[in-house]
Amino acid sequence: MSLLPFCQWLAETRGSIALHESLYMYPLVESTHVIALCLFIGMTVILDFRLVGIGFTSVPLTDITRRLGPWMQAGFVVMVITGVLLFYAIPVRSYQNIFFRVKVIFLILAGLNAAVFQWGIYRRVAEWNMDKKVPRRAFMAGVFSLILWSGIIIAGRMIAYNWFDCDRKQSEFITWAAGCTPHED
Ligand code: HEM
Repeated sequence: MSLLPFCQWLAETRGSIALHESLYMYPLVESTHVIALCLFIGMTVILDFRLVGIGFTSVPLTDITRRLGPWMQAGFVVMVITGVLLFYAIPVRSYQNIFFRVKVIFLILAGLNAAVFQWGIYRRVAEWNMDKKVPRRAFMAGVFSLILWSGIIIAGRMIAYNWFDCDRKQSEFITWAAGCTPHED
């Protein structure tokens, strides 16, 4: 099922055109997307460093989650709102952008990883809260989180590059993966 017709309709809406053609609004939204990244990812990395044992190992884990949790959530909400606005401003190009698609897959996996941690091993945190070396499942949650969020940032940054855009002739694989309509020779 292709969302292309929906993205084409979205691109014709007054709001999408206004945001896309705006002199200040789009850069403002994108800058906020990047600034919120510092807050959200900055806090997430501190928690992941604690889980993988490369930093803050003398700090009880619940001290980190209790004190940094609200900032992480605030940063995440701002990331999602500004991200959706960035998508809304250029829906067709973003939808057919291979880096955006990779980023969405990584975002889903990162969400799953956080949910498995939150509703799994973290429920028994009282048993290992002070431990410098956390249980294996918590350690793996930290490793996956660091890998997936790094991938999301790299893919997010690559969205701006048009190497694989559909308005160029692409390989069969890229044409399929990006959802391009095949070029007529
Ligand atoms: C919540 C976690 C997210 C992170 C860590 C993240 C990270 C990033 C990064 C690092 C960039 C590159 C910014 C730049 O250097 O110009 C970016 C761009 C972008 N992001 Fe996100 N993002 C997130 C969520 C989202 C969501 C939920 C969407 C849309 C549904 C989204 C849509 C976009 C778009 C369309 C761009 C490209 C902007 C451009 O280059 O013009 N992001 N993101």
